[in-house]
Amino acid sequence: MVAVEQQFVTLNEIRRAARANLSPEVWDYASGGAETETSLRRNRRAMSNYVFVPRVLRDVSHIDTTTTFLGMPLALPIMIAPMGSMFLLHPDGDLALARAAGQMGTIYWLSTMTRWLPEEVAAAATGPLIFQLYWRGDHAWAEALLRRVEAAGFRGIALTVDTAAYGRRERDIEKRYDPRGQGSRLWQGFPPPLQGDARMASLTWDDVDWLKRTTRLPLIVKGIQSVEDARLCVEHGVDCVYISNHGGRQLDYAPAPIELVAEVAEAVAGRAEVVVDGGFQRGTDVLKALALGARAVCIGKAAAWGLAAAGAEGAARVLELLHLELRIAMANTGQTSVREVGPWLVRRACACE
Ligand SMILES: Cc1cc2nc3c(=O)[nH]c(=O)nc-3n(C[C@H](O)[C@H](O)[C@H](O)COP(=O)(O)O)c2cc1C
Repeated sequence: MVAVEQQFVTLNEIRRAARANLSPEVWDYASGGAETETSLRRNRRAMSNYVFVPRVLRDVSHIDTTTTFLGMPLALPIMIAPMGSMFLLHPDGDLALARAAGQMGTIYWLSTMTRWLPEEVAAAATGPLIFQLYWRGDHAWAEALLRRVEAAGFRGIALTVDTAAYGRRERDIEKRYDPRGQGSRLWQGFPPPLQGDARMASLTWDDVDWLKRTTRLPLIVKGIQSVEDARLCVEHGVDCVYISNHGGRQLDYAPAPIELVAEVAEAVAGRAEVVVDGGFQRGTDVLKALALGARAVCIGKAAAWGLAAAGAEGAARVLELLHLELRIAMANTGQTSVREVGPWLVRRACACE
């Protein structure tokens, strides 16, 4: 057996291995976007709109990538985003992703659309977990779920708000493939999502207030895509503003999350933590987001590809490679601590690649 470090030396290699291991249906489910896939492409391309302002001769022989997220220590500022139906990618699904995150000293965000129960993932996890909430039922349903997740030891609740209507992912639609709900044991008893996500469509800031009142855990709102909504998060006592367009899977022609970070961080002004996801596949991407004001980033597809390539080890290898690239980017820009980078480290540039 070739060790995973020798087998996979770049993320692209992992991506290719994932594609080879998956059926076309599952590959497209895991990697596609909504409609024209402009949001999906822009998430990556917008990374090129920023270049570094490198500093030299600053003794970068010791580099510190540790930080905290909502009071929890992170060995690296990269967490694994919540993703549904991970059992399709690997038989160990969420259990493997939770283990990979713990092994690398970071956090796994568990989706509501999980085949495993929160208690099972908590039992397998070796690091902190956050629970991502897709709200289906009434208050009694949500409260019971919150109590359950709190009791299982989860450390935060992330309400996803960018799914008022399910995006038209045409790669799936044309194959007549709909993995939604297939795996979620938490949505049992509800009609399949196709028949209407009425509760998700009817969510308002009142529901955010209700969640804030009802759980003792920190509250994260995932899917913020405007400065105005980031300000509202702060007004409603949200602990973390999570900038995301769902990896380009929901609204087409959505803003690229990296381009919102600076303005959102400025508007939030330290009153909540800011995290971001969407297209983070390089250490340099991560460093740019931190410089612009994010506390940490989350990775979705990159972690999913690691899972599909080699289970927990593959997902951990993705984090390891991003960590390595981040340290190299920090050294070559003259930075020794992820907690000390600021907007002066980047400037906007024409996307001339
Ligand atoms: C296969 C897949 C399933 C996802 N399922 C969920 C989900 O159940 N809940 C959620 O809030 N976000 C979900 N997302 C979005 C991710 O949490 C994250 O926002 C996105 O993947 C980040 O972009 P990236 O894939 O470019 O890193 C999913 C993403 C993927 C790729």
